[in-house]
Amino acid sequence: MPDQAQWTQVVEQAVRAPSIHNTQPWTFIASGDRLEVRRDTSRALPAVDPTGRQQVLSCGVAVQFAVMALRASGFTTELDLLPEPADPEHLATVRVVGQAEPSASDVRLAAAIHSRHTDRAPFLAEPLPAGLVDQLQAEAGQDGVWLKPITRVEEEAAVAVLLDQGEQQELRDPAYLAELQAWTRADLDAPDGVPVAALPREGRATNAPVRDFAGGGGPHDAPATPADDDPPPPVEHPSVVLLGTAADDRAAWVRAGTALGRLLLSITDAGLAASPLTQALDQGWVRNRLTARLDLVGHPQMMLRLGRPSGTQVTTARRPVAEVLHVA
Ligand SMILES: Cc1cc2nc3c(=O)[nH]c(=O)nc-3n(C[C@H](O)[C@H](O)[C@H](O)COP(=O)(O)O)c2cc1C
Repeated sequence: MPDQAQWTQVVEQAVRAPSIHNTQPWTFIASGDRLEVRRDTSRALPAVDPTGRQQVLSCGVAVQFAVMALRASGFTTELDLLPEPADPEHLATVRVVGQAEPSASDVRLAAAIHSRHTDRAPFLAEPLPAGLVDQLQAEAGQDGVWLKPITRVEEEAAVAVLLDQGEQQELRDPAYLAELQAWTRADLDAPDGVPVAALPREGRATNAPVRDFAGGGGPHDAPATPADDDPPPPVEHPSVVLLGTAADDRAAWVRAGTALGRLLLSITDAGLAASPLTQALDQGWVRNRLTARLDLVGHPQMMLRLGRPSGTQVTTARRPVAEVLHVA
């Protein structure tokens, strides 16, 4: 079974998971052969994530990264979801059940944990590699999660409209703006929150706009007024996919997170990157509209832009492991 140093290494990798507003809403308890993953409600985001769904999903990614880290270290695992019904913040327990030589793919996917970053810059204008979407669908299916590429023109238009409607309504909410400001950081070394350095410098022409972290105005969101003879901006056309689940309970949210974690490692390993577009999923009304407009069977959990990075990526900081891991 893993010793204290190994559990520390596993959690160092788990905390590289993406999380909404980089809140890192998790704590870990390692004891013997098991690692408990809990949501830390003191880091909640009541305006953007009123039900806690996106934070539970973020913790699900951390669970997946822990599993991948253990596998690459030669351990086999089993996962218990929501093992204590009376304690809903205890989201999962990863149990080490044996040892096995890691496969080449286990090693590559675990290596991708540290090279994965949310990339909000325009992606290169090229389609996804042939067969990738089928592969991602099959992998997500193993966690009971479906993946729908948004490819039809009517679907792209509906998504663009709903992203805009969702975000415009949020930008009119003072509580949303205050929360956004509280979690945006000027300093790249700040241990949590979204650093300005990781945000796009200027607006761009796209059907998949990333979240406006400047709250409707600010230095990283205000392109200079173009002159009459400036060329039009290049149009970005990234691939967009939606992940969803049949149920919409906490178990489904954790599973959406484990599937997302797996997907992010697969695409990173393939030299690609992603950025979430959750403005159309934050609030119930817009999420319901998305479900109806796209005729979804089940519940959308995560929308992502995918593509090949066009530049260098920014590494966001994490809180020290000692702050989030308790070894019993
Ligand atoms: C559930 C969830 C929702 C997110 N929503 C957005 C979003 O709407 N817009 C965005 O630009 N980034 C979004 N992110 C990305 C986080 O801001 C990012 O993971 C965090 O800042 C840490 O950076 P990193 O992913 O590069 O490590 C989301 C991440 C998660 C897990």
